[in-house]
Amino acid sequence: MNLREKYGEWGIILGATEGVGKAFAEKIASEGMSVVLVGRREEMLKDLGKEISEKYGVDHKVIRADFAESDCTDAIFEATKDLDMGFMSYVACFHTFGKLQDTPWEKHEQMINVNVLTFLKCFYHYMGIFAKQDRGAVINVSSLTGISSSPYNAQYGAGKAYILKLTEAVACECEKTNVDVEVITLGTTITPSLLNNLPGGPAGEAVMKAAMTPEACVEEAFENLGKNLSVIAGEHNKQNVQNWKANKTEDEYIRYMGSFYER
Ligand SMILES: NC(=O)c1ccc[n+]([C@@H]2O[C@H](COP(=O)([O-])OP(=O)(O)OC[C@H]3O[C@@H](n4cnc5c(N)ncnc54)[C@H](OP(=O)(O)O)[C@@H]3O)[C@@H](O)[C@H]2O)c1
Repeated sequence: MNLREKYGEWGIILGATEGVGKAFAEKIASEGMSVVLVGRREEMLKDLGKEISEKYGVDHKVIRADFAESDCTDAIFEATKDLDMGFMSYVACFHTFGKLQDTPWEKHEQMINVNVLTFLKCFYHYMGIFAKQDRGAVINVSSLTGISSSPYNAQYGAGKAYILKLTEAVACECEKTNVDVEVITLGTTITPSLLNNLPGGPAGEAVMKAAMTPEACVEEAFENLGKNLSVIAGEHNKQNVQNWKANKTEDEYIRYMGSFYER
């Protein structure tokens, strides 16, 4: 049974333009689902939609939305209200580097909207639909910073912890139903936004050595869907977390994460 037969006709990817979101869109389309592609760069999304429709023979819809805007979900929910929805993934994130008090308040509000509020609104909305029809699936995306904390990138790490813990709990709540929910926690993943923020020299090379492709992360997420509630992507990342938990204190883990950006 492919994803369309199991979960329904349409899936929505919130943050689909490139990287991990694009890989999610390709994956569900390759299993027969039509895709709702959401993001800010409308032209890129239209090109992607066209490419996916031609390649996989599925339908697509593009919605331009900025998750930092508090009313952005109105247009998303309106555009999907008559579709047979069966899948949702919240992929987008927003971060800025610097100490909490040095980051402009406006940025904090945008981060809360992208990483927490819009995420919650979407998760709540589509879970309502999936629970009512007793069919559907959600895969939300977290980060190792949600496990470790992320000094000098603190709100981002806290937002990722929110996504992680909320999704894990909801995944457990619906375990005995036909709605499958999972959170996948990513380590370094080769996306355009990673490449734009990569440090030069040996530090950048070390980051790339441990990096996964978006496609490998998405493949692992779907292999675990309906089996596990919470998954850390990749053997290297799993080992790292296990080693830290076994051999270091929480404080050491937090300080280690802070050492990357300390100024
Ligand atoms: N890359 C890594 O190394 C890494 C590591 C750990 C965890 N993760 C997690 O993996 C996920 C994807 O990472 P990524 O590096 O691909 O992230 P990203 O580049 O920030 O975002 C992915 C997608 O989200 C869309 N997006 C971003 N901000 C948006 C906004 N305000 N409104 C609407 N759409 C928005 C972007 O398209 P538009 O620009 O067109 O809007 C893009 O397609 C995130 O949840 C991140 O926390 C990534």
